[in-house]
Amino acid sequence: MSYLSSHPLLRVKELTLRFGGLYALNKINFEMHSGETLGMIGPNGSGKSSFVNVLTGQFTPLNGEMEFDHQSMLGRNCHQLVEMGLCRTYQSVRVFGNLSVQRNIDIASLLLKKNGLTHEQYNHYLNWLKLRPVLHKLSKDITLFEQRKLELMMRLVLKPKLLMLDEPVGGLATSEVSEMIQLLKELKAYTSIFIIEHTMRVIKELADRVVVLIAGEKIADGPPAEIMTNKRVINEYLGSAHA
Ligand SMILES: Nc1ncnc2c1ncn2[C@@H]1O[C@H](COP(=O)(O)OP(=O)(O)OP(=O)(O)O)[C@@H](O)[C@H]1O
Ligand SMILES: [Mg+2]
Repeated sequence: MSYLSSHPLLRVKELTLRFGGLYALNKINFEMHSGETLGMIGPNGSGKSSFVNVLTGQFTPLNGEMEFDHQSMLGRNCHQLVEMGLCRTYQSVRVFGNLSVQRNIDIASLLLKKNGLTHEQYNHYLNWLKLRPVLHKLSKDITLFEQRKLELMMRLVLKPKLLMLDEPVGGLATSEVSEMIQLLKELKAYTSIFIIEHTMRVIKELADRVVVLIAGEKIADGPPAEIMTNKRVINEYLGSAHA
């Protein structure tokens, strides 16, 4: 996008996370700007979800700094981070299956203390995600694709400045992946996006920049075309079945 601001929206310095003897993240340095869509790729177990988990307060880092919108994120819980404008989804769908789609959206809205969406914005998102026809169904009775769109709606009501998506097309059929890519392209107009994916089509079509993690280390950071031709990235990741 063209309106990159000079100050980073997200700034991570020397971030280190250890589980016992395992360094899940080792001295990660990283910045992203408002308006950017950033892709994160890497083999299974390379630390991608852990990165989001540390940033959103689930894990405490051993070392390092992390700032969102000029404020330290250290010690903040997910409610405080939501208030600051940081939202995330999880690798596996997390909705309240025994509650209706509408109720799931209502519950998500409660997380925000400040003013939520206007009626116009709310209705716009609902129509855009094509969720209106399923509002009264139980969330467990809608398709996985609809559940993933419901999760987007549950974050959009929180008015995120940055939305971190952990494998948003996981488990979707090829045609649904195409539809999700189109939705995420349109989502760029509403929020900055950080996206973890193994499906390279998603990264190629969406990301302005790509960061590669291997065994907890950031080994590359650059435009998609550069990353996809990086020898180490090809040898240690893209050469595998995911490419
Ligand atoms: N809560 C935890 N306790 C101990 N080890 C963990 C925990 N969460 C993750 N790990 C370990 O940290 C490493 C990084 O895991 P992580 O889930 O971040 O990988 P990932 O890159 O998201 O992988 P995938 O692509 O399979 O989702 C792995 O070795 C994993 O086993
Ligand atoms: Mg993961």
